[in-house]
Amino acid sequence: MLSFATQMARDAGALLVQRLGSAKITNKGDINLVTEADIAAENLIIERIRSYYPQHGILAEESGEAIIVGGKRSQWKWIVDPLDGTTNYAHGYPCFAVSIALEHAGQLEIGVIYDPMRDEMFAAERGQGATLNDRTIRVSSVDELSAAMLCTGFPYNVRERLDFARDFTNFTMTAQAVRRDGSAALDLAYVACGRFDGFWEDGLSPWDTAAGVLLISEARGKVTNFDNEPLNIYTEKVLATNGLVHEAMLKVLK
Ligand code: IPD
Ligand code: CA
Ligand code: CA
Repeated sequence: MLSFATQMARDAGALLVQRLGSAKITNKGDINLVTEADIAAENLIIERIRSYYPQHGILAEESGEAIIVGGKRSQWKWIVDPLDGTTNYAHGYPCFAVSIALEHAGQLEIGVIYDPMRDEMFAAERGQGATLNDRTIRVSSVDELSAAMLCTGFPYNVRERLDFARDFTNFTMTAQAVRRDGSAALDLAYVACGRFDGFWEDGLSPWDTAAGVLLISEARGKVTNFDNEPLNIYTEKVLATNGLVHEAMLKVLK
């Protein structure tokens, strides 16, 4: 199933690249965009799952939750963000990804994040470690916030989540550097492979985080909410680190 998932992410990624610069954009809400490419990539993924695993459930960003077989809940659930980083994509800023996870009986089994611009495939299977283009990855070994490269995301509804500005200022004053890239899935993948030492964001959804959470735990990092409780992917506040700067980041978020 891991190679099924990586192939699907690769094919959806190729579709996104093909349409980059020409996809029609509509507004989902005030600021939240959706492009034709989001929908096309999601359809590709859903059709593929339906034809190979017709019994499985799917939670996909643009279609919401669809439980496939005659109303009966499946133990298997695919959690899909066909295009993470839509605003970047809509502006031709080459930082976006396809994120696909598979849950069984509430436990994450597979996580795949694919960056089609750099041809980087991040993949993890529970208990089998995490890889980037088939090479094992691990979180970084930076153990002081003052030496850490952090990343965050600004929620779409910034006006209702004013804490983000306070946290951003505080981390900017305490860490070595803070970035804001616009793709939570890639941010999490970068924590897993040690490019970032920590990431925090308030306002995420399961399709943003599911694959990244498994990647980070398989790469020996740590993911919790802002109260240091193990992350449930349905929680909006996500703190993901190499484990070593976790406490220090929690203190800043208090
Ligand atoms: C968004 C991106 C962004 C994050 C937002 C997400 P989308 O996902 O991951 O980095 O800050 O909270 O909603 O809408 O591009 O799939
Ligand atoms: Ca997303
Ligand atoms: Ca999306």
